[in-house]
Amino acid sequence: MGKILDGASIATEIKKEVAEEVKLLAEKGIRPGLAAVLVGNVAASEIYVRSKVKTCAELGLFSEMLTPPESITTAEMLALVTALNAREDIDGILLQLPLPAHVDAKLLLDAVSPEKDVDGFHPVNAGRLQAGRPALAPCTPAGVIEILKRSGIPIAGQRAVIVGRSDIVGKPAAMLLLHENATITICHSKTRDLAAVTREADILIAAIGRPGFITPEMVKPGATVIDVGINRITDRAEFEKFFAGDAKREETFSKRGSTIVGDVHPKAFEVAGAYTPVPGGVGPLTIAMLMSNTVRAARMRRGL
Ligand code: GUN
Repeated sequence: MGKILDGASIATEIKKEVAEEVKLLAEKGIRPGLAAVLVGNVAASEIYVRSKVKTCAELGLFSEMLTPPESITTAEMLALVTALNAREDIDGILLQLPLPAHVDAKLLLDAVSPEKDVDGFHPVNAGRLQAGRPALAPCTPAGVIEILKRSGIPIAGQRAVIVGRSDIVGKPAAMLLLHENATITICHSKTRDLAAVTREADILIAAIGRPGFITPEMVKPGATVIDVGINRITDRAEFEKFFAGDAKREETFSKRGSTIVGDVHPKAFEVAGAYTPVPGGVGPLTIAMLMSNTVRAARMRRGL
């Protein structure tokens, strides 16, 4: 069984550092502020956004939650984003995804001022990241780098294989690892002989969004496996496929009727040298990095 990379304690460490920075900025009369926009009533989004706002309060950041109704139009959303762009007390703007299908999400994400784009979703930030310029990087891949570095896992010269090519995780993860001098490969649904490629990885990043997709024979013994997936499973047969004989999981599943599994089959962690569990691995880093990005945006916007 590989060593567990404890994302929760790394996230706590980062949040402590962010709180220290917030204190130092307060001495200069600066209080970083985050605006979180939550449209409609998506239950999972509500939980995430509340957690982001709560963490701001814990670390001393200002935050404001905006909750327009599901029926809001693209034009109304655009006006809202434009107003937030102009506000001096707001350093970070976060549009919680998914937005309702009838609004133009791309147009709105592109309307967020790149200086306030703490999710790192704006093409200007993607471009800056690729060009190796100071950029606000997406929180989840930035968190992956923090886990690796703070766990003492070498990156330079290592072969990193990323499964999944999303704009939010796969592509930025590749850029960040490249800047750390890894040799990177991005795999996707059209990759031939995927298992042969993933078995080459010293660092394997799973960001596909499919429960238990990475199986033991896809992992090189001793590799570091980073599981970015968060998949809720409710089906008993699927549960058995991943967690048969796991008494603790059985208890949650029986109680709640569901449990969370990552993109990596639990049996594949046994082959790994080190791995991030789900839950408790990459997940906790996402909010910590959002806080870190918001403080960074506050400093950068003031030329500090
Ligand atoms: N929805 C799911 N994850 C995220 C995230 O990291 N940022 C935003 N804005 N929306 C999300």
